[in-house]
Parts: sequence; C-alpha cells; structure tokens
Amino acid sequence: MHLILLGAPGAGKGTQGALLTERYGILRLSTGDLLRDAVREGSALGLDAKRYMDAGELVPDEVILGLVRGVMARVRTGVVFDGFPRTIPQAEGLDALLTELDRPLDAVVVVDVGDEELVRRIAGRRICPKCGATYNVHHRPPAVPGVCDVCGAEPRSRPDDAEETVRRRLAVYREQTAPLISFYEDSPTPVHVVDGARGMGDVAADIALLLDPIRE
Ligand code: AP5
Repeated sequence: MHLILLGAPGAGKGTQGALLTERYGILRLSTGDLLRDAVREGSALGLDAKRYMDAGELVPDEVILGLVRGVMARVRTGVVFDGFPRTIPQAEGLDALLTELDRPLDAVVVVDVGDEELVRRIAGRRICPKCGATYNVHHRPPAVPGVCDVCGAEPRSRPDDAEETVRRRLAVYREQTAPLISFYEDSPTPVHVVDGARGMGDVAADIALLLDPIRE
C-alpha cells in the first residue's frame, strides 16, 4: 500500500502516519524527519535545509526528491508519505518515481483541520532535545512538568513552532501544498478528506475505514 497524508502543519500527519505504520506494517516516510535528522547530523544538506525550515519556507524540490529517491530505493514494504509531496513538481517527481518502481499510489488522505486548532496544537507541542520523545501540554504532558519521562532532559518547542514561523508555514501550505488536492482529484488516485479536528482515535478510525479495504 502506498499513500499520501496531506494536511497543514499540525493537522496530525505524523500522529496518524505512526498509527498507520502499526496497522499496516508500512514505512512512514516523513521528509520533515529526514531533514531534521540531517540537521542533527550537521551535514551540508542539513545546514542548508535548516535555513529554509527555520524561516517556515519549503526546502527546494530537488533536495527533497533526492532524499525520497534514496529511501525508496531501499524500501520493500508499502509507504505512507507524510509531509511529501508539498508542491506540484514534487508530486510529479513522485509520480515518475512510483511509475519507474512499478508501485502504484493507492490513496491520498487529506487531514482537514481549521487554523485555530492547528495553532493550538503546535503551540502545545514539546519535543525532548536529547531523546526525541514527544509531548503536548494539552493532552500528553510529561509526568513531571518540564522533565522528559524517558531521559530527564527538558522538552522544548520545535524551532519552527515559534508563532511567526507557524503563520508563515500555514501560508506556504495554502499557497504551495493545498493545490495538490485538486492535482490528485484530477488524477486516477482516490482522494479522501477526513475531519482531523476530532480526537486522534476517531480520526484514525475514519482513516482505517477508508484504507482497510485496500490493505495488502
Ligand atoms: P514537517 O516536519 O513535515 O512539518 P509539518 O508538515 O509542518 O507538520 P507538523 O510536524 O508540524 O505537523 P503534523 O501534521 O505532522 O502533526 P503532528 O502529528 O505532529 O516539515 C517541517 C519543515 O521541513 C517544513 O516547514 C519545511 O521547511 C521542511 N519540509 C518538510 N517536508 C518538506 C517537503 N516535502 N518539501 C519541502 N520542505 C519540506 O501533530 C501536531 C501536534 O498536535 C502534536 O503535538 C500532536 O500530539 C497533536 N495532535 C495530533 N493529532 C491530534 C488530534 N487529533 N487532536 C489533538 N491533538 C493532536
């Protein structure tokens, strides 16, 4: 199974993507995670990408397509694409790659959430800088405030979760990524829109109803 999770920053793509990997035994390919790994490693690609990420802008298409191509060459399972594609050229690049690999795209799932809730979720997100454990002050705080349950370090906001950067990320989503919904509606791949503003379990149940019939 190959599918795309499409949605604004904070819509729950990462959260639902992780649940899908458990349910269907597929890989979650998050370009955001790949870029953050590169930043952490201090590679030239990571240092370059960080400038775009910190400003809430998109990393250039050719960089992203190179990363995705590298992962896809190694993966033998199905894939849920999380945060990719984000532009029409990326979608065209993915289409060409999947055709080349003879791995058809089964579905696009759009996770739809209003701006106010997106901002609330992102403002509440905390990540442990040491071990990567994730928290949210609204629904999954650490047992002791300000102390990671796993390693004891202090969970922090993601650098690009600052309010001004989030506003820019939302604008970039509207300008460059939301047009992908029409792009895929005009393609043979089915597009499903789910109401992502409800609880995580309800959203996951809706997605499972759509995808269980096409599971491998
Ligand atoms: P990326 O890491 O992809 O970030 P994003 O798309 O902005 O998405 P987020 O990670 O903020 O949110 P999400 O939808 O995954 O939600 P999550 O599940 O975490 O990209 C970061 C940057 O990298 C980009 O800005 C760009 O610079 C660059 N980049 C990445 N991919 C690129 C590409 N393809 N092309 C070019 N540049 C690229 O949930 C958010 C919070 O809400 C969490 O705390 C979670 O616990 C909570 N939550 C989730 N679901 C619910 C729910 N149902 N109810 C209540 N809370 C919930």
